[in-house]
Amino acid sequence: MENHYLLDIIYLIASMTFVIGLKMLSHPATARRGNLIAAAGMLAAIVGTIALHEGEVKPVIYILITIAILIGTIIGWRTAKRVAMTKMPELVSLFNGMGGACAALISLLEFHNGGNTTRIVIIMLGLIIGSISFAGSIIAFMKLNGTLKKAIRLPKYNAVNTIMMFVVFAAGGYLAFSGSGSNMMLYGVFALALLYGVMFVIPIGGADMPVVISLLNSFTGLAAAMGGFLYGNQVMLTGGILVGSAGTFLTIVMCRAMNRPLFNVIFGAFGEGAVKAGSSAVHGTIKDISISDAAVLMNYSKKVIIVPGYGLAVAQAQHVIHELEQILEKRGVDVKYAIHPVAGRMPGHMNVLLAESNVDYSKLKEMEEVNPEFANTDVVLVVGANDVVNPAAHNDPSSPIYGMPILDVENARHIIINKRSMNAGYAGIDNELFYNPKTSMLFGDAKDALTKLVTELKTME
Ligand code: TAP
Repeated sequence: MENHYLLDIIYLIASMTFVIGLKMLSHPATARRGNLIAAAGMLAAIVGTIALHEGEVKPVIYILITIAILIGTIIGWRTAKRVAMTKMPELVSLFNGMGGACAALISLLEFHNGGNTTRIVIIMLGLIIGSISFAGSIIAFMKLNGTLKKAIRLPKYNAVNTIMMFVVFAAGGYLAFSGSGSNMMLYGVFALALLYGVMFVIPIGGADMPVVISLLNSFTGLAAAMGGFLYGNQVMLTGGILVGSAGTFLTIVMCRAMNRPLFNVIFGAFGEGAVKAGSSAVHGTIKDISISDAAVLMNYSKKVIIVPGYGLAVAQAQHVIHELEQILEKRGVDVKYAIHPVAGRMPGHMNVLLAESNVDYSKLKEMEEVNPEFANTDVVLVVGANDVVNPAAHNDPSSPIYGMPILDVENARHIIINKRSMNAGYAGIDNELFYNPKTSMLFGDAKDALTKLVTELKTME
């Protein structure tokens, strides 16, 4: 069989593994296998492309490709192995940025090979979208790891950003359609797109980062798809389109979860409220609860809903929370988990965390499904969650999270909140729920507090 037929078959199989892998990623029970299947498809596509390439290729090119793959594999493997679960969103952001950078570099190189207008349009789109994605992802990475703490807003940043976006695309269009673009102009577009990527993400603060991250993800997919068009490479095209569309869907889901219109996201008009963060300080008295009182309260409940948040991941308390759930279930208590779509620091964070400790998937209830249930719940145990249960989202129009749907834990008979202090969550705002007369604070590290709760419950048999 001729090489290119064989390569087409490999590409077809690889594309199928991406689709199957993506489908399997939608359920925690199959996600790990889905990831491996798609990765195997990608490996086959890479090896096939190198081994079955037709045409003259100097041996030194193969050596360079092998060295690049080895370096990339070692760095990627070691970082992914070492990274703590709570740092995963940063890593995803960084990897996403690398994808954007690759697409931009491909465009920079291919521009010099010339071609017709359609080809240059594709090159320009790859360059602009890839650069925005790269620069934006690096800023998102710095925001997530705390290097950049604040949302930086220049005067009239919305107007400036929108103008900048039009200028970048207009300059790219000029290069493509005039057929007379200079090198200086090419690098000018590159630099401006990078700057726009920075300006696009830098004003965004508070609880809006998940939307940006998934949007940048879809940009990288689009930029990679441009590379697929450029080389007539079907697998690159399919991979890019899948990432682009999955990222877009995720953006829409995130927008709904955060109650942000997509238009505002694209035109940089969101995150506005964060300027006023902390403007309405919350006051009142808090009451705390001892381990034994909390254990008694839950032991004699009919129904308990657990609300996991970022702190559960920090404390790595997923195994002990599962043990707590099992003990309560054995005592006849109906236990469920309420999952907010942006709890934690990445989409599906809580699902992945709880799947790691084999929590039965049917016990995880999504926000819309569980919200009506709080009213007939005896105890809500909030573990390391804060923003996703903050009533300011309903009551305080000056709050940066105003309008975001939250878990309505206030409606339960008793609320126990476990966290280490009165510190704010990701959005950096106070939470009046802590001062609610129905609320009791169970201070301490989640793993420590839950372990003590489990021990206490065991003595009550
Ligand atoms: P947060 O609002 O960030 O609150 C987490 C709370 O956990 C903190 O208030 C912290 O209080 C507590 N905590 C930290 N370590 C702990 C430990 N070892 N033991 C017990 N508690 C601990 O979390 P959330 O409610 O899950 O909300 C997520 C936030 O992140 C939202 O604002 C969301 O928009 C944002 N975000 C989400 C994503 C995605 S896609 N999920 C991505 C980026 C940003 P103490 O310090 O007092 O313990």
